[in-house]
Amino acid sequence: MQLNSNLKDGKPIVSFEDVFYSHPNGNVALKGVNFSLRQSEVLAILGSNGAGKTTLVRHINGLLKPTRGKVSVFGEDTKQLSSAQLSRRVGIVFQNPNNQLFAQSVRKEIEFGLRNFGFSEDILKKRVESALNDFSLLDYADRPPMELSGGEKKRLCIALVLAWDPDILILDEPTVGQDSEQKEKLSEMTRLLQSQNKNVILVTHDVEFVWPLQPRIILMANGLIVADGTSQAVLSDSDFTNRADVLAPQLVDFSKLMGFLKPFPSAPFEAEKILRIEHG
Ligand SMILES: Nc1ncnc2c1ncn2[C@@H]1O[C@H](COP(=O)(O)OP(=O)(O)OP(=O)(O)O)[C@@H](O)[C@H]1O
Ligand SMILES: [Mg+2]
Repeated sequence: MQLNSNLKDGKPIVSFEDVFYSHPNGNVALKGVNFSLRQSEVLAILGSNGAGKTTLVRHINGLLKPTRGKVSVFGEDTKQLSSAQLSRRVGIVFQNPNNQLFAQSVRKEIEFGLRNFGFSEDILKKRVESALNDFSLLDYADRPPMELSGGEKKRLCIALVLAWDPDILILDEPTVGQDSEQKEKLSEMTRLLQSQNKNVILVTHDVEFVWPLQPRIILMANGLIVADGTSQAVLSDSDFTNRADVLAPQLVDFSKLMGFLKPFPSAPFEAEKILRIEHG
């Protein structure tokens, strides 16, 4: 099945309707998730270990299918699509890079995805060189990926997925092991992709990385979305951050302390459509 090339009528790019997911061992990781994403939105998903963040994003590229409820991507029910069909347009960088790397060299690793998606050798060469360059991997091009450090492996995974230019880029814990220069590059990349009308979904514990980007924030706890709104509204509200066991950015704490920023009562942000989803 061919995915809609774009959705100009304002339909969501991604939508979750009452999604439940039970892992094969019976562990219920998603317990009724609802949200939708519009074109060019940058979304950060935050929450404590085991909250269900990775399980949620694996539904977007069809690696997991809901046990109950419906996930649609580009207007199509993911149950009708294979992960292979989705992955050309939905690139995911896994939390653990060892699950993504298998080629004999860094260069071959980047080439593999591009060849798989049928890019011509000409384009392939250009894209590989710019991926190596953009992600400071030129010095490692001929080394086996498994010999790279954790941070370098992560960078390679981001480089190889970006090389095939997906419309939605999902980064599961992208800043782990990255120094400040690489984090700055990641921020720039996110802004650039947004300006190209793409979607970036960041799954992270790194609120200090997220805050300057001011993305939409979804907070998760125990398989549920407990808050959904702007960075300011969600991360300035200790009621939300406590429920998801997320620390507020230092700047928010400092501003509150200095009285620059009043703790946000819910009323002024009703317009921002923060959802308080109370289940059970
Ligand atoms: N393959 C699996 N089999 C069984 N249970 C799983 C599996 N993967 C995850 N889980 C469970 O599902 C729940 C959600 O896990 P998930 O990996 O989505 O959490 P997360 O929010 O990404 O956590 P983290 O911040 O640690 O990455 C947890 O209770 C976890 O133990
Ligand atoms: Mg995870």
